[in-house]
Amino acid sequence: MNQPKLIAFSGSTRAGSYNQAILNVVSNAAESAGATVDRVNLKDFPMPIFDQDLEASEGLPASVKALKERFAKADGFLIASPEYNSAFTPLMKNVIDWCSRAETEDEPSLSVYSGKSTLLIAASPGGLGGIRGLYALRSVFQNISVTVFPSMIAVGSAYQLVDESGTVTDEKWKGRLEKLATDYVDFAGRLKG
Ligand SMILES: Cc1cc2nc3c(=O)[nH]c(=O)nc-3n(C[C@H](O)[C@H](O)[C@H](O)COP(=O)(O)O)c2cc1C
Repeated sequence: MNQPKLIAFSGSTRAGSYNQAILNVVSNAAESAGATVDRVNLKDFPMPIFDQDLEASEGLPASVKALKERFAKADGFLIASPEYNSAFTPLMKNVIDWCSRAETEDEPSLSVYSGKSTLLIAASPGGLGGIRGLYALRSVFQNISVTVFPSMIAVGSAYQLVDESGTVTDEKWKGRLEKLATDYVDFAGRLKG
C-alpha cells in the first residue's frame, strides 16, 4: 500500500484556535502512521472573497495559484473547521471555491480535488463540537468528487481540553483523534492504491 501524501489546514486562523490544536494532534498521528503531511496556515494564503468579475479580469490571485499547487501534490486532506452559525466558516468556503477554479482552459474540472479523500474534524466551546458544520462540509466535498472518510470527530467544550499554548491536554480525546488519524491514513493509502 502506498503511504498517502496529505495536506492539513484549519478553517480558523485565530490565534489559539481549538481547531488548529486538534489538527496538530491528527497531523502528528498521521505522520506516525506513515503519511507525509504538508501543514498549511491559510493566513499565509490571503485571498479576496471569490468574485467572478475579478477572476475574469485578472485571473486567479497568486495566493490561489500557490495553494492550488500545494493541493495538487496531495492525495488527501486533513481538515479541521469550526462551526459558524451551523455551517463551516467563510474562510473554508472561499478557499474551496477559489481552488475549484481552473487556471487554463485545458485544466480538468476540479483538478485539485477529484479522486482524493478527506478527513473532517471540528472543535467548539459549545456542546455539539461543531458537528453541524461538518455535515455541511461533508456534503460540499462529496459534490466536488472528494471521498469523505466516514468517521468524523467533533470535540465539544474544547476550552476544557486545550491549554493556552494550543495543546490538547485531555488524553481521552487525544487518543480518539490519534486513532481516527491512523484509520484515515490506512483508508487514504488504500484509495491511492
Ligand atoms: C460568527 C460565529 C458564529 C459561531 N457559531 C457557532 C455555532 O453555530 N456553533 C458552535 O458550536 N460555535 C459557534 N461559534 C463559536 C466557535 O465555535 C468558536 O469561536 C470557536 O472557538 C471557533 O474555532 P477556533 O477556536 O478554531 O477559532 C461561532 C463563532 C463565530 C465567530
